[in-house]
Amino acid sequence: MGLEELPLISVLVLHGPNLNLLGKREPEIYGSVTLDAINRLLAEEAQKLQAKTSPLQSNHEGVLVDAIQAAHGEHQGILINAGAYTHTSVAIRDAITAVNIPTVEVHLSNIYQRETFRHHSYIAAVAIGQISGFGANSYRLGLQALVDYLRQ
Ligand code: DQA
Repeated sequence: MGLEELPLISVLVLHGPNLNLLGKREPEIYGSVTLDAINRLLAEEAQKLQAKTSPLQSNHEGVLVDAIQAAHGEHQGILINAGAYTHTSVAIRDAITAVNIPTVEVHLSNIYQRETFRHHSYIAAVAIGQISGFGANSYRLGLQALVDYLRQ
């Protein structure tokens, strides 16, 4: 099947707490790319992959849970950087399990090179996979992996 015949895949992109500060926040760890720039990069990459992205950032756990629940029937995949909630949120993990939508977890930094409390992710076990440590490129690689998985 030619690329032009592929059905459009809709991906919900979730950014957790403090990621709205990207560009200003600890640039030595998270880089200088802003969240808007990451969302644009993802929209461009999605177009190449015959997909579309719907980004949402929230500092509130419940808003992220609501968005995951609402994704049921709306989006075929979820790309998530849950920020600090990665390491604390059973609620986000349960929401991903409940909707049963293939999910890829991404992190800008390599969480395994950092403090021990960042080494555990509640999301990893319910995600298809995780990409960590490639800066803004983690999102692009995550989107590619997710769309590729959904096309199988
Ligand atoms: C992060 C890593 C988390 O430990 C941290 O709390 C973040 C960002 C990352 O993208 O590297 O907020 O998810």
